[in-house]
Amino acid sequence: MPFEVLWIRMSLLLGVNIDHVATLRQARYAKTPDSPHAEPCVVAAGHDALAGGADSLTLHVRGDRRHMQEADALRIRAEIPLPLNLEMGVTGEMVGMALKLKPDFVCLVPEARMEITTEGGLDVLAGLANIRTVVACLQNAGIKVSLFVDPDLKQIAAAAATRAQMIELHTGGLSNASDDTVATEMSRLIDAAMAGHAAGLQVNAGHGINYTNITRILTIPHLAELNIGHSIVARAVRVGMTAAVREMKDLMADYPA
Ligand code: PXP
Repeated sequence: MPFEVLWIRMSLLLGVNIDHVATLRQARYAKTPDSPHAEPCVVAAGHDALAGGADSLTLHVRGDRRHMQEADALRIRAEIPLPLNLEMGVTGEMVGMALKLKPDFVCLVPEARMEITTEGGLDVLAGLANIRTVVACLQNAGIKVSLFVDPDLKQIAAAAATRAQMIELHTGGLSNASDDTVATEMSRLIDAAMAGHAAGLQVNAGHGINYTNITRILTIPHLAELNIGHSIVARAVRVGMTAAVREMKDLMADYPA
């Protein structure tokens, strides 16, 4: 039998956030999201993302239920054979939902009612004791936990102290950067990724990543997964979800192993 050498190359994973498919549905069907006529269908979008090469699906059931509903999360969990990442606020209600849903991962995020989207990282330093308790509770149920944090070394150290397995670096500062601030934002992200990796955390990134700024994102070291929503759903309006996801995956294939 010939001797075979297997090269195992770790690729950069893509979690597709399909919240905005539900945003569109809620614009017309907020009172009847479960109706068979309610469209677009988030489960179909999840299947299309899978066909395009998504490595996981991400969804955020917010306290105000402005897009994803709990029933969406349960259907997606039951019907789509992809790892599920639940973004959630650090509240008793959401911990209860996570324990029922049993996603593969949870990403703890701050949640403010009036914000259009998540506006900043979690203040892990300020909420350390509570966050540590929530992390332990979720991990005891077999759920891996990530903390969405700004690229700030104090927050990274606090994240490691919670014993969460992962951090997701908030890339919103980079995506909103001007020509004058882009270098500073990049060096914050690079330093934060190196610190997270050195602390034994899996380093993910997300927020505001699109088909253009992905080139810069790919220069950040130690990344394991990107979570991308708005730009992919926006592109899907033109080319379909499967093609939109495949285009992003193709761009991500340039990440150094
Ligand atoms: N990661 C986190 C923690 C988020 O809150 C969001 C927005 O829901 C995303 C990633 C995706 O951001 P975007 O929609 O800008 O790609």
